[in-house]
Amino acid sequence: MSQITAFGTYVPERIVDNHYFEEFIDTNDEWIISRTGIKTRRFSKDGEYTSDLAVKAVNDLVESSGKDISDVDFIIVCTTSPDQPMPNSASRVQYKLGIQNCGCNDVYAACAGFVYGLQIAHGFVNSGIYRKVLVIGSETLTKIMDLEDRTSCILFGDAAGAALIEPGDSEHFIAFNSGTNGDLGHDLYLSHKKNSINGVGINPHGKIVQNGRSVFKWAVGNIPKKIRELVEKAGMTLDDIDYIVPHSANLRIIEAIVKDLDYPMERVPESVTEFGNTSSASIPLAIAKSKRNGGIKKGDTVLMIGFGGGLTFAGAIVKWEI
Ligand code: UT7
Repeated sequence: MSQITAFGTYVPERIVDNHYFEEFIDTNDEWIISRTGIKTRRFSKDGEYTSDLAVKAVNDLVESSGKDISDVDFIIVCTTSPDQPMPNSASRVQYKLGIQNCGCNDVYAACAGFVYGLQIAHGFVNSGIYRKVLVIGSETLTKIMDLEDRTSCILFGDAAGAALIEPGDSEHFIAFNSGTNGDLGHDLYLSHKKNSINGVGINPHGKIVQNGRSVFKWAVGNIPKKIRELVEKAGMTLDDIDYIVPHSANLRIIEAIVKDLDYPMERVPESVTEFGNTSSASIPLAIAKSKRNGGIKKGDTVLMIGFGGGLTFAGAIVKWEI
């Protein structure tokens, strides 16, 4: 049986409001807030990369839990913005934390990354392959966004969140699901060399590009259905779920999902208004914020669902015991 036994987050110090973008693209604070809900986001410093944020989130996890992480035997970093393609970010984290005898791998599933990471960690721990697994969602998206593209650069922020998964005497993970529409791969991508996906021309300039309207429609059209399927798979109803934590891509997407489900918005933690879209870090940030504000607490049943580039999604229902 596997459990989430510790949790931590980190956001860089620099707060950037919407007026920052008005200086170099045709946009304004009112448009950004009304279309996305975003008021501020954090920018990492020059020379501060994904593995640096990941290490700080793990430090927060250690400080808040008192856990010894020297015997962690696997690190999974979920990211869309690795320090570099090779070595992977997990092995940078291993080195910086000085953890010995530890396997390292990155999960590359965009905004669904953190939940995919939890699924893999659960499999590792439950099967006995590994005993102590760190799952870290970490992003420095502001380093790979296109500052000339007003439809995307206003969305992103940098952050990290970390969870420790260990064996325990009860099962915290109740149900999982996932799925992919690879046919929509060209709607959200970052390419360094290839200039087409699915036969559709793309820009290989090494920056995030998205067809926001298409991703928006896909998310709003599919995620509520996937949440219902997951709840059913767990043998539960929505009334049994204390909190739903969807990926914080856009407040309007969250509101549309909640409306479709007829679920109370006050039980849907979000991180997008304060931190922007932080991809694989958005769900841990929303959970941490909710916990700080007296929301999610020990004993709650929490449904998380990440979705994005792929297009892919991953969901999990977890008994929150920390
Ligand atoms: O995290 C991974 C998954 N990603 C997502 O889930 C993102 C999904 N998509 C979205 O969040 C939204 O589609 C956006 C926030 C990206 C865009 O919002 P929208 O309501 O879908 O706007 P739109 O693309 O339909 O554009 C509406 C108008 C357009 O002008 P016209 O064609 O109506 O004249 C855009 O050119 O808004 C214009 N526009 C802007 N105006 C001011 C687009 N970006 C901006 C901007 N400032 N930054």
